[in-house]
Amino acid sequence: MPPPGSSSPRRTRPPPRQRSPRMNEQGAFEGGWADTERRPPLQAGATYAAKRRSAVSERFPGERVVVPSGGLKVRSNDFDYAFRPHSAFVHLTAELGTQAVPDSVLVFEPTGTGHTVTLFTRPRSPRDGGPDGAEFHSDRRYGEFWTGRRRTLPETSAALGVEAAAREDLERVLRGRVPTRVLRGVDAHVDALVTPHARADAELDRVLSELRLVKDEWEVTQLRTAVEWTAAGFQDVVGELPRAAQLARGERWIEGTFNRRARLGGYGLGFETIAAAGAHACVLHWTRNHGPVRDGDLLLLDAGVEADSFYTADVTRTLPVGGRFSDVQRRVYDLVHAAQSAGIAALRPGARYGDFHAAAMRVIAEGLDAWGLRPYGRTASTPESDLYRRYTLCGSGHMLGLDCHDCAGARLETYLDGVLEAGHVLTVEPGLYFQPDDLTVPAELRGIGVRIEDDFLVTADGARCLSSELPRGADEVESWMASLR
Ligand code: GLY
Ligand code: MN
Repeated sequence: MPPPGSSSPRRTRPPPRQRSPRMNEQGAFEGGWADTERRPPLQAGATYAAKRRSAVSERFPGERVVVPSGGLKVRSNDFDYAFRPHSAFVHLTAELGTQAVPDSVLVFEPTGTGHTVTLFTRPRSPRDGGPDGAEFHSDRRYGEFWTGRRRTLPETSAALGVEAAAREDLERVLRGRVPTRVLRGVDAHVDALVTPHARADAELDRVLSELRLVKDEWEVTQLRTAVEWTAAGFQDVVGELPRAAQLARGERWIEGTFNRRARLGGYGLGFETIAAAGAHACVLHWTRNHGPVRDGDLLLLDAGVEADSFYTADVTRTLPVGGRFSDVQRRVYDLVHAAQSAGIAALRPGARYGDFHAAAMRVIAEGLDAWGLRPYGRTASTPESDLYRRYTLCGSGHMLGLDCHDCAGARLETYLDGVLEAGHVLTVEPGLYFQPDDLTVPAELRGIGVRIEDDFLVTADGARCLSSELPRGADEVESWMASLR
């Protein structure tokens, strides 16, 4: 017997076989590889993901639930777009951008009392033969020689706190005759394996979307991180404005400047960066970004860093390229700022979701009236009149989380027609856009587009701005820009 306190030698697996290196018939290089198995700690978000899985399990007793990550999408020929797993999959696994494996599938298998949950995924590329013996060297989509090391199944299990199995076993499991719901349209192979039940599958989609409406504390931390890096990106952009103003495609310089920060601090972008100078700011999603950034113009930058955890920020600032607003630019800016402030003041738990938009639009409508703008020969005066919409074009915000436009599958009564709750995270982003060819406005307004967007967490007694590090008011914006030059 070993003395108390001494550790007995525990062996969880046999030592690797030592073979002389050789190449087998499949072209795999056998032997001579060190054992590199790791023991990763449980990822920080994993315990929160486990609670979300419990909620799914409770919602669908006795049924199998299948949530795929999705796979690689061809960009052209033999190159793929960067892999980004489906947000519902991320929500239920807390998987990270640097680790996510294409074609993974989360399966909830019903038991008498609940579900066992297994993550079917790609194990490491075997280097020592076997049916996929050549994958490591020869498969440019999945071979580790091409794309980098994946986790082993035990490593995946340790990191995510969920059982892990090989994806190749999935087909056998899904053949078992159990009522099955699938998150459809994510993995064509999975879709084909399970007979669709349109209503049940659509309900799953909705439930998974609504489960994401209220953010837990870990999600709020992730969103704060995303916003912090986004603020850093905006600061970088201000520093680069003089350089951008000298370039024929200055908008691209702005885009690249922000995107560099996004890749440095996070996994990447929550959406394509909108770097819209001059009249391009009147295009809501201007992502061509091939125009100049001229001194005297405004630059509308709408951008968000997606954190390693896939949670994204979404912030807009409209900046005077030369550092000072002209009188007419400031007039438009101040009205949008007042509208945003009114929208922000309407954020509180229990308020109707639509309240902040209505509050912002009332300020816009009254401001346009005060300017004597009568787009259709009548005053805009009330949000209900809708006449002002010629110049505002869209809603004033949206839920924010793993998707920039988060929880899009939620029912009207839980989102657009619902009430705000503590834990909701949303944007408030009114704007005014005077198209360059709009003859209903004075010439001096044409080609001016202004949007101001911040991210908010609804709290027990109001709302907290997550992006308050960035100035909002015109004076504060000018001082901030001067301090960065
Ligand atoms: N930031 C882009 C959007 O909210 O549509
Ligand atoms: Mn937005």
